[in-house]
Amino acid sequence: MSSPLSVSHLKAGYGKKVVLSDISFEMGKGEIRAILGTSGCGKSTLLNNILGLEKAMAGEIDILETHLRAGKDLVPISVQKRMGVLFQSGALLSSLSVFQNVALPIRFHKPNTPEKTIREIVASRLESVNMLHAIDKLPSELSGGMKKRAALARAIALDPELLFCDEPSAGLDPVTSRSLDELLLSLRERLKLSLLIVTHELDSIKTIADRILFLKTGDVLLDSTLKDGLESNIAEVQEFFTRTVK
Ligand SMILES: Nc1ncnc2c1ncn2[C@@H]1O[C@H](COP(=O)(O)OP(=O)(O)O)[C@@H](O)[C@H]1O
Ligand SMILES: [Mg+2]
Repeated sequence: MSSPLSVSHLKAGYGKKVVLSDISFEMGKGEIRAILGTSGCGKSTLLNNILGLEKAMAGEIDILETHLRAGKDLVPISVQKRMGVLFQSGALLSSLSVFQNVALPIRFHKPNTPEKTIREIVASRLESVNMLHAIDKLPSELSGGMKKRAALARAIALDPELLFCDEPSAGLDPVTSRSLDELLLSLRERLKLSLLIVTHELDSIKTIADRILFLKTGDVLLDSTLKDGLESNIAEVQEFFTRTVK
């Protein structure tokens, strides 16, 4: 089974500033991989460069059977169609209703889809994130947790094979955060999707992650199973897993 995502010697940053000096890792199919590290270490930068939203300085990325020179090749639309992204901010379009936000990827990637089918797909995705009741609301009428769930419904609109989530449970209450974890696990079962998730939440990591990628000063400090991460004797990793304040 081929790897849905493999990153090789990725170098990236902003202007002359290098944030990620040499990142390599590979994900297995159906794997939930948590990207860990202190705030500002480059987790979002890694995601944005994999997605081609920032122009990487060097490296190679293999994503859904497509080879890309990082910073040079764009992720083809045919590949984008097979991925979903939940940004750190949620990134819902504020002038569009929840329905129209979730319908966006369908309208863009499958423009010939009949309106009735779009309605059915949107309703089923909103149902799966327990947000059907808010289908006609505007983002400004939603709480933080509801925005995240709506953004997740949009990210899974086209049944992605590969899903990226940047701190989906940050700022959510523990109950909402737990239900988001359960949702991600059930999506993995239903869609057999692979998930790359940035998160600080220890409970969440312990509940959903198969493997971790721990970053430090632009490099990979540890690439291991969750179990090996929890038992690691690397000081930074121990500190991360034993801290009491989140
Ligand atoms: N758009 C940007 N322009 C310049 N520097 C940035 C930008 N985004 C992030 N950075 C810097 O890059 C580093 C990594 O940021 P980020 O990837 O957002 O960290 P994390 O997601 O791990 O908290 C930080 O020092 C941050 O200040
Ligand atoms: Mg971030």
